Amino acid sequence: MTLTETAQAADTFDLTGRRAVVTGASRGIGRAITLGFASRGAQVVAVARSADDLDETSRLSADLDGAVFPVVADLCSSDDGPAQMVARAAELLGGIDVLVNNAGYDNEQGVDDTTTEEWDKVIDLNVRSQFLLCRAASPYLKDGGAKVINIASIFGHVGTREEIAYITSKHAVMGMTKALALEWARKDVQVNALCPGFVDTDMIARAVSDDATAKYLRRMTPLGRWAQPEEMVGPAVFLASAASDFMTGQALIIDGGYTAQ
Ligand SMILES: NC(=O)c1ccc[n+]([C@@H]2O[C@H](COP(=O)([O-])OP(=O)(O)OC[C@H]3O[C@@H](n4cnc5c(N)ncnc54)[C@H](OP(=O)(O)O)[C@@H]3O)[C@@H](O)[C@H]2O)c1
Repeated sequence: MTLTETAQAADTFDLTGRRAVVTGASRGIGRAITLGFASRGAQVVAVARSADDLDETSRLSADLDGAVFPVVADLCSSDDGPAQMVARAAELLGGIDVLVNNAGYDNEQGVDDTTTEEWDKVIDLNVRSQFLLCRAASPYLKDGGAKVINIASIFGHVGTREEIAYITSKHAVMGMTKALALEWARKDVQVNALCPGFVDTDMIARAVSDDATAKYLRRMTPLGRWAQPEEMVGPAVFLASAASDFMTGQALIIDGGYTAQ
């Protein structure tokens, strides 16, 4: 293709007809990505445990070009739960082109206070369920240009105090992203991580309700604020679309400059 032809080509960020699965779509970043994808024409299976909140995600998508199909599932309830969910999603959509592993949990505790049960809870959702979902989705992600987006974090790159399980889990997500990217390059499937800084969701609500912590987070973020969930949509659309076809095994860090320091 010549440069002119490339410039005139259809919008490489278009998601019309793309079949996507987004976990943790009942609120926060997952809901924003689900609606962002649907607004660009994607068919999205939205996954979480709360039926009411998923219905709200679906209701918010009513006027968008694409469609949202709620699927209630607990990704940690059993070993075959993620595989059953993936099979159900593939049946609803007629296949899967994009998997967004977004559901996550942070127990916000340091080493002395983290019980074995809490450690397992964080690792089970943030790492194990992502692996089970990728393995189950593998047969569907095959037609070249299929995408996996693992939602990691700035804490997949740097540490902080009082979050030992979460930081361990997000570093593991970065490792899994690279390993999968290399394995699946053979079948032209791209696997990347989206790494947010602080985003205004339930996950940081407790932290920012404390004035001193809120001030600290602002001071630590060069742009001087935390993000809205909608600010993760553009980067996620990029990673889900043909615009990122030559990018794999990488991290897209959207953090207001936090890790540039
Ligand atoms: N907010 C931030 O500052 C920030 C920064 C960096 C990275 N992240 C990452 O971004 C992702 C989304 O975070 P968020 O801030 O949007 O969190 P959130 O508002 O707490 O949402 C978490 C989502 O995960 C779902 N979920 C939790 N446990 C689940 C389970 N066992 N099975 C299925 N779904 C489950 C929740 O739905 P139900 O409760 O209905 O199941 C909810 O939709 C996470 O991976 C998080 O680590 C967030």
